[in-house]
Amino acid sequence: MKKIALALLSAGLMMSAAAQAGPEEDRKQLIDFYKSKLPTVKFDDMVYGALALDKDAKSQYDSIMEFPPFESVVEGGKQMWEKPFKNGKTFSSCFPNGGKNVAGNYPVFDDKLNKVVTFEMAINQCLRDNGEAEFKLGDVNTMGILTAYARTLSDGMKMSVKVQGAGALTAYEAGKRHYFQRRGQLNFACSTCHVDNVGNRIRAEVLSPALGQATHWPAFRAGENLVTLQTRFRQCNNQVRAVPLEFGSEEYNNLEYYMSYRDNGLPLKASVFRK
Ligand code: HEC
Repeated sequence: MKKIALALLSAGLMMSAAAQAGPEEDRKQLIDFYKSKLPTVKFDDMVYGALALDKDAKSQYDSIMEFPPFESVVEGGKQMWEKPFKNGKTFSSCFPNGGKNVAGNYPVFDDKLNKVVTFEMAINQCLRDNGEAEFKLGDVNTMGILTAYARTLSDGMKMSVKVQGAGALTAYEAGKRHYFQRRGQLNFACSTCHVDNVGNRIRAEVLSPALGQATHWPAFRAGENLVTLQTRFRQCNNQVRAVPLEFGSEEYNNLEYYMSYRDNGLPLKASVFRK
C-alpha cells in the first residue's frame, strides 16, 4: 500500500511538472517533496546524499574527509591543471576567474552548437583551442583526475545552472524524462529508487534523495575508486540491468543538465568520500 502511494507521488512530480512546464517549478516541487518526506534533513545537507540519512555513515565520512586517502590523486590533478601546454598557457586561461567558481555553472546549453556542454567538454574545448590532444571522456586517469582537482576550485559555489531558450528547455525536458522513465530488466526509473524509495535500503545501501545528486563529483568510493557522475549513471543503469550509455552521449548530458539544474542553490563540493 505504502509503496503504491509513493509511486503515485513520483508520477505526480513528473506530470504536474510537465503541465506547468517550468524547470523552476520542478525544482521547487522536488524541494517540497523531500521537505515533507525527509523533514529532518536540512536543504544544504542534501549534498551528502544517503549519508544525510545515516548518522554513523556521516560521522565516518567526516573523519575520512579530514585526511582524505585520495588527497594525492587530487594533488595529481592540480599538477595537470597547472602544467603549461606547448604554447605556454594553462587550463586556467580558458575559464573566467582562472577556473574558480565556474563548475557550478555547468552543464551549459550552447545555443550555437544546439547542445548541452558539460564541464568535461569545456575542458576538451580548452585542449583543442590550445592545440593539445583531447582527453577521452570517462577516462579516469586523465579527465577523471583533472576534474577531481578542477572542480574543487568551485567548492562552496552554489550550483547555478541556467535553462534559457527553447533548445535548452528541450534538453532539460529530455533529461527529466530519462530520470522518470522506467528501463532495464527490472523496469525501474531513477526516480523509483531515488524518489519513491528514498531512505529505504537496497542490499546494504541506503538510497539517496534525487536532490543533491549532481553536486559532489567525482567521488571516491571506498576512499579509492574515482567515480564520475556519468560513471555513477552507468552503475545505476547496471543495477536495473539496463544497457549503460556512452560517456558524453547526448542522453547522459541531458540527464546531467536536468539533475544539475535541479540542484541549483546547493553548495558544490568536489572529490568526496562515498562508501
Ligand atoms: C535499483 C535502484 C536504483 C536505480 C533504479 C537507480 N539508482 Fe542511483 N543509486 C542506487 C544506489 C544503491 C546508490 C548508492 C547509494 C546512494 O547513494 O543512493 C545510488 C547512487 C546514485 C548516485 C550517487 C549519490 C551520491 O550521493 O553519491 C547518483 C548520482 C545516482 N544514483 C543517480 C541515478 C540515476 C541518474 C539513475 C537513473 C539512470 C539511478 N541512479 C537509478 C540505486 C539506484
